[in-house]
Amino acid sequence: MITIAVSSQKGGVGKTTASINLAHSFARSGRKTLLVDADPQGSVGLSLTRQSRVLPGFFDLMADPVFPLERLIVPTRLETFSLVACGQSSDYELGGGSAGVTLHRVREFLRSVAARGFEICIIDTAAGLFGATADILTASSAVMIPQQAEPLGIRSVPKLMSVLTRMKVVNPELNILGLLLTMMQPGLAESREAAQALKDMLPSELLFQTMVPRDDLFIRASARGLPVGAMENGAGAMAVFDRIRMEVEGKLAKDN
Ligand SMILES: Nc1ncnc2c1ncn2[C@@H]1O[C@H](COP(=O)(O)OP(=O)(O)OP(=O)(O)O)[C@@H](O)[C@H]1O
Ligand SMILES: [Mg+2]
Repeated sequence: MITIAVSSQKGGVGKTTASINLAHSFARSGRKTLLVDADPQGSVGLSLTRQSRVLPGFFDLMADPVFPLERLIVPTRLETFSLVACGQSSDYELGGGSAGVTLHRVREFLRSVAARGFEICIIDTAAGLFGATADILTASSAVMIPQQAEPLGIRSVPKLMSVLTRMKVVNPELNILGLLLTMMQPGLAESREAAQALKDMLPSELLFQTMVPRDDLFIRASARGLPVGAMENGAGAMAVFDRIRMEVEGKLAKDN
């Protein structure tokens, strides 16, 4: 199983949007896909399942490793697509989670998920690369980093790259898929300049060629907890994520 963490030290850059839509694209392509909400704020689209936020989830398992996995995996209307909610447990973030224990539990979780035949596991993480997210990155096969196409965001990129380099020391297997530019506005000079600055700053393999345009459809979809592909008129936005998925597949193939 390939596990892709969607992470960034910054908030509001499009991690959840990328996680939901990339997972949906993999599922539609026929790969058995699990989308895991590992942000304690819980923002992954639970209306995919027509259920509310009362579901048990990832952090319940982190707090209590004997929590049955069957109770966590929620099917959707798309047969190849399942979800794990973030869950309710607040103990974990507040007090628990001494590093070694969590890492072990994340690995056990991924092993059990793989044993159920999932081919792709996409993990939406909270902003920041510490705590549970650091453990998730250590246990993952790959990481994708969404980055807003605006000048202020780009300033934090060198720091991010140094953090990821350190991550590779802990997890030499980690495939850094690269930065995904989000909320791109081709009509805005500042947005184009930010994209260009990033191109100048990074080796080309660390930047996705496909950029996610700013599109109100993503906001409307996220308000409903849906992938854009499930929205009326969502075909264009969905095609963007199909291209991103194909780039991910190319990067993963190169790594093997
Ligand atoms: N391409 C886009 N075009 C327009 N709006 C977008 C786009 N991508 C994301 N958004 C909106 O921007 C907001 C932040 O996006 P999202 O929740 O995906 O970011 P995040 O990195 O997961 O945030 P957090 O750090 O809070 O978890 C949301 O309201 C979302 O609908
Ligand atoms: Mg989020």
